[in-house]
Amino acid sequence: MRLGRIILFVAFCSFTAYYVYEPIPERIEERWKLMLTNSFFRTLSHLADLCESAGLKDYMDVMYVITLLEKIVPVSDEHVKVTEEKFDGVEVVLYQPKLQGGDAHLRRAVIYLHGGGWCLGSSRMSPYDLLARKIVTELDAVVLSVEYRLAPAHHFPVPYEDVHRVVKYFLQKGVLAQYSVDPGRVAVSGDSAGGNLAAAVSQQLQKESGQQIKLRAQALLYPVLQALDLKTPSYQQNKDMPILPRTLMVRFWSEYFTSNKALFRAMMANSHNSPESSRLLKFVNWSAFLPEAYHKEYNYSAPAIAQGTEGEVAGMDGPSQSFADPRASPLLVPDADLHSLPKAYILTCEYDVLRDDGIMYATRLRAAGVEVTHQHYDTGFHGALMFTVWPTDFLIARRMTDNYIKWLKDNL
Ligand SMILES: *[C@@H]1O[C@H](CO)[C@@H](O)[C@H](O)[C@H]1NC(C)=O
Ligand SMILES: *[C@@H]1O[C@H](CO)[C@@H](O)[C@H](O)[C@H]1NC(C)=O
Repeated sequence: MRLGRIILFVAFCSFTAYYVYEPIPERIEERWKLMLTNSFFRTLSHLADLCESAGLKDYMDVMYVITLLEKIVPVSDEHVKVTEEKFDGVEVVLYQPKLQGGDAHLRRAVIYLHGGGWCLGSSRMSPYDLLARKIVTELDAVVLSVEYRLAPAHHFPVPYEDVHRVVKYFLQKGVLAQYSVDPGRVAVSGDSAGGNLAAAVSQQLQKESGQQIKLRAQALLYPVLQALDLKTPSYQQNKDMPILPRTLMVRFWSEYFTSNKALFRAMMANSHNSPESSRLLKFVNWSAFLPEAYHKEYNYSAPAIAQGTEGEVAGMDGPSQSFADPRASPLLVPDADLHSLPKAYILTCEYDVLRDDGIMYATRLRAAGVEVTHQHYDTGFHGALMFTVWPTDFLIARRMTDNYIKWLKDNL
């Protein structure tokens, strides 16, 4: 009887040790809280793998639980009026300040794009809802949170095109006037995959000669910016870091383009480049664009190139080659296309596979003459901004949120 309990106890401890304990760097604050939080994500990911192997459900369908657990119905409160609308056929959640005594001055606006690797997430998740309300009240601004469609049901370019349509629709004189928005003070912003969409749509709008109302600023929070080199120093250093291990990021990238697992395997090996895409490797050369401190322990070698029809990926159709499209990998445009971009805020975290994407973009934008504010968090981890709600609230999330909002206040 007692032995049974002891066995159970030991089993429980080993299970806990296996799932919860991870070698997370000592400098990360609230380390144990992060381990516990991440054990949930890791367990879910294992379960998703099992379900997929058993042919029960696709990996991403299981991972979507993360979105469902946080989903709420956004409603108006004392200070903020919330409405759900469709802009050119795309769902949006609109947050507006409640009018104070008929005051109808023009306001700033932030178009916000949620993260989740183009496969997960929703503007209706409670951390995004809270962030939107905070921006509205602290900036007296309008926030437009875009419910773009997700992969793998809708592969690239659908999520991007949804965002592009909403931004084009919103940036019309009549529409802005309807919401009392100042046409000179609209920003686009997003975290992670949302930062990718924000960077891509900023580039696209700048190119369109017919676009009269331009974006004033872009705020990119630990953005994903390139799919050509998935072994940058930060991908190597942080390959097992919470809450975005390299395997999951590679999974998101490949699912964005295709459900064919050959692309996932090739991306894992960093051997997915074709002779055509390899010509763009110079734009993501981390030995050239990262400050010395970030790469001194790593020797640069360019990713392998899949030759002709030998490579599994080279034999695949067009969609899986889209990773070299700048609408998916905004770092791939030449300098000439960067210089006219709106001023940028770029947040990066040390313990994030995407750290180098953000740093390289900051380097390249600055070199092209764009005004850049780069805030790097030495103890930051990917996705931190999502953790603002008890019991998974982190101090660093509050600092990041405050600094980000302060930048918007000063620059929009
Ligand atoms: C990357 O940059 C280094 C110098 O920083 C250079 O030696 C190397 O040839 C470059 N490689 C590519 C693929 O651009
Ligand atoms: C990089 O190259 C140098 C010189 O060849 C070597 O001593 C060092 O071990 C290499 N570092 C890594 C991380 O491979």
